[in-house]
Amino acid sequence: MSAVFEPVTLGPLRLRNRVIRAAAFEGMSPAGTVSPALVDHHRAMALGGVALTTVAYASVTPGGRTFGHQLWMREAIVDGLRELTDAVHAEGGAASLQLGHGGYMADPRITKSPALAPSRVMNLYGLTLPKAMDAVAISEVVEAFAESTRLAARAGFDAVEIQAGHGYLVSQFLSPFTNVRRDDYGGDIDHRLRFAREIMRSVRTAAGSKVAVIVKMNLRDGFAGGLELDEAIEVARMFEREGADALVLSGGFSSRTPWYILRGDVPLQALVDGETRLLHKLGMKLFGRVVVEPFAFEEAYFFAMARQLREAVALPLALVGGIRSRATIDRVLDAGIDLVAMARPLIREPDFVRRLEREPAAQSRCEPCNLCVAAMYHSEQRCPRR
Ligand SMILES: Cc1cc2nc3c(=O)[nH]c(=O)nc-3n(C[C@H](O)[C@H](O)[C@H](O)COP(=O)(O)O)c2cc1C
Repeated sequence: MSAVFEPVTLGPLRLRNRVIRAAAFEGMSPAGTVSPALVDHHRAMALGGVALTTVAYASVTPGGRTFGHQLWMREAIVDGLRELTDAVHAEGGAASLQLGHGGYMADPRITKSPALAPSRVMNLYGLTLPKAMDAVAISEVVEAFAESTRLAARAGFDAVEIQAGHGYLVSQFLSPFTNVRRDDYGGDIDHRLRFAREIMRSVRTAAGSKVAVIVKMNLRDGFAGGLELDEAIEVARMFEREGADALVLSGGFSSRTPWYILRGDVPLQALVDGETRLLHKLGMKLFGRVVVEPFAFEEAYFFAMARQLREAVALPLALVGGIRSRATIDRVLDAGIDLVAMARPLIREPDFVRRLEREPAAQSRCEPCNLCVAAMYHSEQRCPRR
């Protein structure tokens, strides 16, 4: 029997096996609410065998949204979220809620407010010029993370996951590319991680002793001038000191290196077709191949860097990105990484974990064509090849 089917403990949370469904935007929250489709989706994940299913990226404030059909945290959705966690628990799984803020990736057409960021650095992907956050804006977002955690706890979540990677707001503070502040929140890594530390503290306090706090973070932003592994190790150490129960290790920066997060095919035509902003559509059509840098897919593509980080911290670690077979999972667990997280293999095949149990040589059916990523912009999450 593979170690993947052995239970594991993350702070207050006991998981039945070592597989997490990674946060992957479901597009099932019309007007920011919990739909029956979202409940069914996560019930299916628990039924399919994952130990912990992560509900993707709920924005901690309305101003942090990147999509209109995305959850944002408020009292009005607690009952709906409770229905979701009840459904997951009924199938023997545990539920986590990813909390984030888009920062300069937030879409002003949706939020009706200027995008916030550590510094006034243009987001070339969304063509947004953000507003640099002052002390008041910083403390409002820190408090919003705490309040969102309290709502998540009341809705029955077993864990919350702070989105501190992928070029969203927390990651923008950590990255020297987007954070050029000269105050206590910018400069060397000790200063750049201050915002993340304040959020970690507020979430840890709000979560109390019954809800696990997980952090998703970058090993590397994926371009010269971004966060590199040596600084990421400092960030991981800080999260450990401040009481994180586990880290999910990823990489990439949505506005610069989105395909470093995902790897594989870039479905440019599908992305152009799904773009509603005319200027962006034209830009993508004309220059897409030039500006969107592809990255070749290989299994467990962040594994080598995760092993280096493993040497530096003792808390439980999960690896995400290109986990596609039981052989790879065993290799990752053998190296002292405690868990694996998967997104696309479970979009393709929600009961992939059950198949891993039955078939030791099981290989995911995900290609990766990344058409699920293109679909994310305008429809509910689906694998067109399913
Ligand atoms: C359709 C889609 C939506 C995603 N949305 C999120 C998200 O909301 N938050 C997040 O942290 N990662 C998101 N991701 C990234 C995944 O969590 C994961 O890091 C990435 O897909 C690599 O893992 P995989 O090879 O198992 O798919 C998304 C991925 C996909 C495919």
